Amino acid sequence: MGTPTPAERIFCAIDTPDRNQAIELASALKGAVGGFKLGKEFFTANGPDGVAEIAELGQRIFLDLKFHDIPNTVAGAVKAVMKLNCYMLTVHASGGRSMIRAAAEATSEETLPLIMAVTVLTSLNTKDLIEIGQKTPVEDQVLKLGKIAHESGANGLIASPKELKALRAALGPKCLLTVPGIRPLWASSNDQKRIMPPLEAIKAGADFLVIGRPITQAKDPKAAADRISAEIAEGYR
Ligand code: C5P
Repeated sequence: MGTPTPAERIFCAIDTPDRNQAIELASALKGAVGGFKLGKEFFTANGPDGVAEIAELGQRIFLDLKFHDIPNTVAGAVKAVMKLNCYMLTVHASGGRSMIRAAAEATSEETLPLIMAVTVLTSLNTKDLIEIGQKTPVEDQVLKLGKIAHESGANGLIASPKELKALRAALGPKCLLTVPGIRPLWASSNDQKRIMPPLEAIKAGADFLVIGRPITQAKDPKAAADRISAEIAEGYR
């Protein structure tokens, strides 16, 4: 993959079960972002047909269903996603080496979808991990799972902005890092607590940015996406 353009780095999170609203938004943003992230909310309401309909607009699809199951089941789910023309999908790194390898091998004859591994959910803190029997502090656990996923054939990781530098340093330039929790300085932080502006996240090592509400809830979503791209481009002048 060559260096993505600023717009290509942005995956707009379309978090709605409403298919018409999703199509309207995605149509308005066509060309202004690199693609759309569709998650459990959209998928559970609209299924593979809904994903295919958004994919027909010609933008990349990031299908965020966070698979976590026995290797054979995950491989089967990944193969089913391959029919949907998606650019990347997510699995939980905590599913272990064999599960991640099974996901990567399921796509081995194709270049896409990219397999992106989620390390530790950012909703969990060290106390939560101890409660479920994991004694490693969150930061160390993120690195540990990141290494396992990378060694097992995942193309990249989903990271929080504050983990970017450590993961990039540990895993090198080829591991694709995708981050949510991105907020331009002019946008509301909403319920996000640990946020980073787009350009800063790219400078810290992010390849792709997941941005939802700063774009989707703007009066003019396309103008908001264009403004973010322009700010990224400005940083590289
Ligand atoms: O609207 P906002 O930009 O906060 O949306 C971010 C997207 O990334 C949402 O789809 C959210 O579920 C997802 N996400 C996140 N933080 C994580 C993991 C996923 O915001 N740690």
